Amino acid sequence: MSLLALHDVGIGWPDGPRVLDGLSLSVAPGERVGLVGPNGAGKSTLFQTLAAILPAQAGQIRFDGAPVQAGRFSPNLAMVFQNADDQLFCPTLAEDVAYGARNLSLPASEVAARTAQALRDCGLTGLEDRPVHKLSGGEKRRACIAGALVMRPAFMLLDEPSAALDLRQRRNLIDLLRGLPQAMIIASHDLDLLLALCPRVLLIDEGRLCADDPAETVLGDAALMVRHGQEVPAALAAR
Ligand SMILES: Nc1ncnc2c1ncn2[C@@H]1O[C@H](COP(=O)(O)OP(=O)(O)OP(=O)(O)O)[C@@H](O)[C@H]1O
Ligand SMILES: [Mg+2]
Repeated sequence: MSLLALHDVGIGWPDGPRVLDGLSLSVAPGERVGLVGPNGAGKSTLFQTLAAILPAQAGQIRFDGAPVQAGRFSPNLAMVFQNADDQLFCPTLAEDVAYGARNLSLPASEVAARTAQALRDCGLTGLEDRPVHKLSGGEKRRACIAGALVMRPAFMLLDEPSAALDLRQRRNLIDLLRGLPQAMIIASHDLDLLLALCPRVLLIDEGRLCADDPAETVLGDAALMVRHGQEVPAALAAR
C-alpha cells in the first residue's frame, strides 16, 4: 500500500521551464526516503508540489488515496521549509509552533500539550516567548521542525532539516526522526544523515529521477555520485 504515489509527474514554476519530468514513485506509510541532487535540481520544487503549494504541470499525485490539488492542503502532510524565514511568521516561538495544531481544531489543552512536546523534542523548551526573528539560525530550523511535529501528520517533507544545526542538535535530530512512526522524505546534502535515517534514496538531476534504490546502493556508487555532483559519504567510503 502506498501513502504517496506519483505517476509520470512533471513539475516547475509558473511560466518557467520544466524542473523535473516523468517522475513515478511511491512511498509507503512509515517509510523514510532520502532525496539528493545538486543545487537547483528540484528538491524544494518537488516538495512544494507534493505539499500542494505549486500545481503539478503533468501527471498525477495521490496522497492518502486522494488527488493532490494545489491550494488544497492536507493536515496529514507537513512540510519543513528549507528557508526558516519562509515558514515562521507568528510573534513568538510558542505561537508559531502551536499554529499547525490550532488549525486542526483540537481542544486548547491538546494544542498546549502537543506544543510543549514538540518544543521539548526539538530542544526549545524555555524559549517559548522569544520572538521568532530573535532566534538563532539553528533554533529557527528546530522551530520549523517543531511546527511540523505538532500536527502529528502521517507524512513529513523535511527540506534540509540539519542545515544550521550544531553537531549535538544534528545528533538529537537523527535520534528524534528515527523514533518517529511517520513516513517522510528528507532532502539533504548531509549524506551521512540520510544514510543514518533512510533505507531508500532518490537521486534527481538534469530534470529527471536518476536513481531510486537502497541508500547504500545509491550513495555508495562512486561513479553515479560523481556524475551528479555528489561524493560518497565518509561512512561508506571508509569501507
Ligand atoms: N520561486 C521560484 N521561482 C522560479 N524559479 C524557482 C523558484 N525557486 C526555485 N526556482 C528554480 O527552480 C529550479 C529548482 O530549484 P529548487 O529550489 O527546487 O532546487 P533544489 O534542488 O532544492 O536546490 P538546493 O540544493 O539549492 O536547495 C532552479 O532552477 C531554481 O532556480
Ligand atoms: Mg532546496
